[in-house]
Amino acid sequence: MARRKKLYEGKAKILYEGPEPGTLVQYFKDDATAFNAEKKDVIDGKGVLNNRLSEYFMTGLNNIGVPTHFIKRINMREQLIRQVEIIPLEVVVRNVAAGSLSKRLGIAEGTALPRPIIEFYYKDDALGDPLVTEEHVIAFGWAAQQDLDDMVALSLRVNDFMSGIMLAVGIRLVDFKIEIGRVWDNDFQRLIVADEISPDSCRLWDIETGQKLDKDVFRRDLGNLADAYTEVARRLGVLPSNVTHATKPHLIN
Ligand code: TMP
Repeated sequence: MARRKKLYEGKAKILYEGPEPGTLVQYFKDDATAFNAEKKDVIDGKGVLNNRLSEYFMTGLNNIGVPTHFIKRINMREQLIRQVEIIPLEVVVRNVAAGSLSKRLGIAEGTALPRPIIEFYYKDDALGDPLVTEEHVIAFGWAAQQDLDDMVALSLRVNDFMSGIMLAVGIRLVDFKIEIGRVWDNDFQRLIVADEISPDSCRLWDIETGQKLDKDVFRRDLGNLADAYTEVARRLGVLPSNVTHATKPHLIN
């Protein structure tokens, strides 16, 4: 079979040309990076887990009427998605202080926030994805005011959905990042959730113990990242019982 044409390779995923116009194939790699790729590793099976988990969250969002780019999972590491024009902003929603918010404002990690806080970061690796305000977004034309309003509404719906799903399995959704893209349905432009939703892009803490079950395990050297993601997948019931996070053949001694 002819190999698909690679269109883009990012830090954790590759995009290939899709089988039909307006579609792409999104491949999940095992690569993990942090701090703008200053820290790097390959975590066996991470791509398989994130493919499954992103499928699970995006399918749920589609089912409740929050539009996403997800069409269907193709195999262990690939999914078929709608091609979108990515808005060059990372949208972060925070329910509990952690990470860069805690650092920037001196608020202890774990402090509950009075309301969900939404932040925009400009997607530019060379600049280290800086925090920007709505003024910057509009002045520099990255999105229009109407887009920003739609992005806020979409992000809050994702927050409520993800918070509920996580709460049901004893996990606190501390914060998360999503990316949003534009699509055209006939003459109408719509904004839809794109990229991925996975433990790479969320902070997930066990409600009882506070144990971290997200990429902070890698960022902060807290243990085995694939074990943490497997635990999330297991609790959500999305891990097929015969598939563990090990994807390579292993010699049995
Ligand atoms: P932060 O506290 O480092 O700003 O991260 C906020 C959330 O965004 C957290 O859930 C991790 C996620 N995130 C990404 O998905 N990609 C990134 O490049 C960064 C910096 C954070």
